[in-house]
Amino acid sequence: MSAPLHILSVVGARPNFMKIAPFAHAIERHNTTTSCSREIRHTLLHSGQHYDNAMSNDFFRALNIPEPDINLGIGSGTHAEQVGKTMIAFESFASEQRPDWTVVVGDVNATCACALTASKMGIKIAHIEAGLRSFDMTMPEEINRIVTDRLSHLLLTPDEIADENLRREGVPEDRIRCVGNIMIDTLEAQRESAAALDVADIIQTRRLSENTEAPHRTGPFALLTLHRPSNVDTADVLQRLVTCLTDDIATELPLLWTIHPRTRSRLESFGLWDPICANPNIDLLAPLSYHEMLKLNMEADVMLTDSGGLQEECCALGTPCLTLRDNTERPVTLTDQGGLCMLVSNEPQRIRPAFHQLRALERRPHPLPHSDGHTADRVVEAILDADR
Ligand code: UD1
Repeated sequence: MSAPLHILSVVGARPNFMKIAPFAHAIERHNTTTSCSREIRHTLLHSGQHYDNAMSNDFFRALNIPEPDINLGIGSGTHAEQVGKTMIAFESFASEQRPDWTVVVGDVNATCACALTASKMGIKIAHIEAGLRSFDMTMPEEINRIVTDRLSHLLLTPDEIADENLRREGVPEDRIRCVGNIMIDTLEAQRESAAALDVADIIQTRRLSENTEAPHRTGPFALLTLHRPSNVDTADVLQRLVTCLTDDIATELPLLWTIHPRTRSRLESFGLWDPICANPNIDLLAPLSYHEMLKLNMEADVMLTDSGGLQEECCALGTPCLTLRDNTERPVTLTDQGGLCMLVSNEPQRIRPAFHQLRALERRPHPLPHSDGHTADRVVEAILDADR
C-alpha cells in the first residue's frame, strides 16, 4: 500500500464546525473499510477565532469532532489581526507537518488565511463549500471566498449554481466537483437527537438572566439570529431593525432571539439592550448548542436570520425564512429557486409583508440539491481521486 495521504484541515469559527464534523467522520470510515486503497492521516487545526465554550468547545463535544491537534488561540481582533496572526501560526505548524493537502471550509477568516499560506508553501488546497458568491465585495466573507477559491486546487461545490460561478471566473473544469451540501450531513446525523429535546427546557436553560419580563412560553414562536456587521454595527440601522422586530413582529408572534456576542456588545453600546431585556414578547437566549438550535428551527413558525447556514437548514427542515440581507451567496435557498427563504434586507417595509406571506406558508421541507447526508464521503473520494 502507498504511504498515507496526509490531510491538514482547518476550522476557525462556529459555522465551520458542522462542516468539518462529517468530513472527520468520513475519513475515519474510509480508514476502517476493508477496501480502503490508501490510508488518510488527518490532522485538525483550530485557529481559535471563536473561543467561548458556547461558540466552540461545546460544538466539538456535541458533534463528536476529534480534539484539534493544535489550537492557534487567535481570538478576537480586527480582520487584519485575525488573518495575519493565523497566517503566521499556520505557517509554523504546516512547516512541521508538511501535509499533502490542506482542507478549508466555508468563508471565515481562518479559511482565507490558511489557504493563502498553504498556497505559498506549495501545499495543495481543497475548499469545501466552493463557488458561493453574493457578488457583494463589502462582505468580508465574499473576499474570503474569492481568494480561497482562486488558490484552491480542488473546488468542492454544493450545487450547479456554484459550479457556474467558478466556470465564469475561469476555473478549469477538472478542478470543480459538485458534491452537495456537507452541513446537511450533520443535520441528518443529528436530527433525531435534536427532535428529542424540549423547547420549554431550552428556553429555560438558555434565557439570559437580564431578560426579566418574558413569561413562561408555550405555543408558536418566531426565531431570530443577527450578527452581520451590515445589520448590527451601525446605530441607526440596528435601531430601525430592532423597532421593526419589537413593534411589528414580536407583537404578533413571540420572538426567541439567540444573541451573538458581537450583537450583544453593539446593542449595549447603542443603548438598546435594556428595553429589549424588558420586552415581554421577546425571550433573549444565550448562544445555543447545535442540537438546541436545530430543535428550535424544527419548531419555529418563521425564522428571521442573517446567517448563511441557517437559511440552508431552514430549507431542509421546512421552516419559512426571512433572510435579513440584501443578497445571498446561497441562491438555492430562495423561494424563486425552489427554497424557503425570502431576501428582505433590513428594511421594515420589506420585512413586514414578507413576514405575513411566509407565515401563511405550509411547513414542508424543500431539500437542497445533492444533499442526501453523504456529501462528506464524496469529498474524501474527490480528494483521493485528485491525488492519484
Ligand atoms: C464570524 C465569521 C462569519 C460567521 C460568524 C458566525 C469571519 C469574517 N466572520 O463572524 O462569517 O458567520 O463568525 O458566528 O470570519 N466573540 C466572543 N466569543 C467568541 C467569538 C467571538 O465573545 O467565542 C466576540 C468577539 O470578541 C468579537 C465578536 O464576537 O468582538 C465577533 O467575532 P468575530 O470572530 O470577529 O466575527 P463574527 O462576527 O463572529
